[in-house]
This record gives sequence, C-alpha cells and structure tokens, in this order.
Amino acid sequence: MRSICEERWIAIVGFVVVFSSATILAACPYKSIFSFGDSFADTGNLYFSSHPPSHHCFFPPYGQTFFHRVTGRCSDGRLIIDFIAESLGLPLLKPYLGMKKKNVVGGANFAVIGATALDLSFFEERGISIPTHYSLTVQLNWFKELLPSLCNSSADCHEVVGNSLFLMGEIGGNDFNYLLFQQRSIAEVKTFVPYVIKAITSAVNELIGLGARTLIVPGNIPLGCSITYLTIYETMDKNQYDQYGCLKWLNKFAEYYNQKLQSELHRLQGLHSHANIIYADYYNAILSLYRDPTMFGFTNLKTCCGMGGPYNYNASADCGDPGVNACDDPSKHIGWDGVHLTEAAYRIIAQGLIKGPYCLPRFNTLCLINTSYGHFNS
Ligand SMILES: *[C@@H]1O[C@H](CO)[C@@H](O)[C@H](O)[C@H]1NC(C)=O
Ligand SMILES: *[C@@H]1O[C@H](CO)[C@@H](O)[C@H](O)[C@H]1NC(C)=O
Repeated sequence: MRSICEERWIAIVGFVVVFSSATILAACPYKSIFSFGDSFADTGNLYFSSHPPSHHCFFPPYGQTFFHRVTGRCSDGRLIIDFIAESLGLPLLKPYLGMKKKNVVGGANFAVIGATALDLSFFEERGISIPTHYSLTVQLNWFKELLPSLCNSSADCHEVVGNSLFLMGEIGGNDFNYLLFQQRSIAEVKTFVPYVIKAITSAVNELIGLGARTLIVPGNIPLGCSITYLTIYETMDKNQYDQYGCLKWLNKFAEYYNQKLQSELHRLQGLHSHANIIYADYYNAILSLYRDPTMFGFTNLKTCCGMGGPYNYNASADCGDPGVNACDDPSKHIGWDGVHLTEAAYRIIAQGLIKGPYCLPRFNTLCLINTSYGHFNS
C-alpha cells in the first residue's frame, strides 16, 4: 500500500538529494521540539512519575546500547524522537516530569509509556479498565502549564510555539492495544477509530490555535508484525500470515486506521493553510524493515531481549524481569522486546522519516545536520 505521501515524495526527491549533500547549514527554523505520545516516544516521564520503578522498561538491560543505564526509554538506546532531535542539532528531549521548568532549552517531551489518545473516562464509561490516565489531554495540559516558562506575552508565545516542531505521537496505538490484548473483536476495536482520530485532531487544532506551524502526526505501526500480537494470536492457519510472517488481519486494521487518520489530517490541513500538518508513515517505515531485513543489516527476526517461544517472547517473562537477558548484538534485531524496537531499528525509521520516503513532504530539511544518511543515501 502506497501512502499519499510517498507519491509526493517522488516529486521532491530530486530537490532533497541536492540539498542533503550540501555542507552549508541554513538557519534552522526549529528552535525546539515538543513531543506527545506513548512508549515509542517516552524519554522518561513514566520513569520520573513512578517511585519505586514499576515498569519492566526501568530495569537493565534497557538503555544498555547508548546510555549504558536505564533512562525510562523502552529500548536498548535512543528512540525515533532522539534521532529527530539529533538531526536538527537540538538536545535530546527532556521528559517534562523530570526536568527543571525554568530555562527550558530545546523543548520538552510529554509522552508517557502506556498513554492513550482518549481520556480514561472514555474507557470507564464503556466498562473497560486501562492501566493509565496519561491521555493526550493530560499531556496537552502539561504543555499549557509549561508555556509561561517559555514565553510571556501572547505575541511572544506565538513566536516561540511557531518556531517549534511538534511530534504528535505515535499516540492512539494503546487505545486499540488495550482492547486487542483482551482479545476483543476487531469489529468492536474499529468502533473506537473515529474517537481516537478526533482526540488527535483536536489536539492538533488546539496547538495550531496556540501558534504551532509544523506538526508531525505519526500513524499506527504494522500491528500484525508485532511480536506481542504474533504470540497472542498465534495460529496454525497459514492463510492468516503474509509472506513476511505478519498477521494480515491486524495489519489491515492498522492500514484502515491510518487511511482514516490521513483523510482527517488532509481535511484539517485545508482549514489551516499557514500550518504544515505532516503525516509520518510509521507503518510503511517499519514494514520495510520486515520486508527486507538483511538490506538493513538485520539477520534475526526474533525479539532481542526475551525468553522462550518461537519469537523469543513470553508475556509472563518480560525483558527487564529477573533472568531475562538480551541477545549478544541488538543491532542485528528489529525487535528489542515484544512491543518496542531496537535503537538500530529506530535509527533507520527516523532516517526514513527525515531523509527517506516516509513522508514529511514539507518538512524543512535545509537545516539538518549533515550526518551519515545510512540507508537513505542518495
Ligand atoms: C517573563 O517575564 C519576566 C518578568 O519580566 C522575566 O523575568 C522572564 O524571564 C520572562 N520569561 C520569558 C520566558 O521570557
Ligand atoms: C513463560 O514464562 C513463565 C514464567 O517464567 C513460565 O512459567 C512459562 O512456562 C513460560 N512459557 C513459555 C511458553 O515459555
């Protein structure tokens, strides 16, 4: 499935190639990044909010590859948001709950492990219990609380917010995960799609009202390739798997959601011509790794840190739990634990977003630090 963004990419590819090899650094329009989301983007919020540490991501070997210590990130190293910050020459984003609120430099991260797009009350009203209250609304309120430390006057704030890059996710995946983990029917899960999209687009609208001009909104990941789902929904029925070993019906659901999200973003873009609402195609960026793992240097499709089962994953013995070890070389694996990917995978995904075909058609690339372009070298 090609995204609408890929087609636009083809039109601008020549342009980007010319400038990506230039050594001059134009003035970067992004002075800071603000990030919302879940465990794909959390750089320590849940970690700083929970004492004693209560999540398996807060124990070794998490963080072993890059930070050499636990940071609250659910990976062996950096996340997509870290690589985006690096490529813009900005510091790695500090988690809002762990940062000094004075002298905020480079932005802040509001993403929380396990967070949902929808509010807790939405689930409670439907008799569904979920293990988080860190919805997108909660995260957006944190941003509004932080705003007075960034700027004073309304004009000043519009300028500060306008010169920031907003990463709106990935968020919304958990709204579906909590239902799918309980093995609720896909028909029921689908009824949540319009609400999740509304929550995300409302947040985008509100930020644009506060002056935001560049917002990147990721879609859902290929759920059918996720080790957790491959384990929960393991079946003898070969027809349920595609040629890459992913569950077709779950990937179809993610595609369905992503299509709906993209058309809503398109509609929103029409209402806000001065803003850049950019769809980030996490789905195809991640799927490309599973389609041709060796091209990206991955030689093992089992999860790196885990224990037992066909995918080296067992939900009752998570990475970070006592006795569960990491593989020798995480860079050879796409999956780090059952849900999250390795730093090696996140790096390639980030490159694919910034330099590659996974969208960001109007993302200003002129100020990117001239680092190695890896797999997306022209
Ligand atoms: C806001 O105004 C106060 C008082 O003039 C000043 O001390 C502070 O630095 C300002 N904050 C920002 C973020 O500009
Ligand atoms: C998963 O881990 C639990 C707890 O360590 C263990 O009792 C169980 O046998 C494991 N299951 C598989 C399939 O390895």
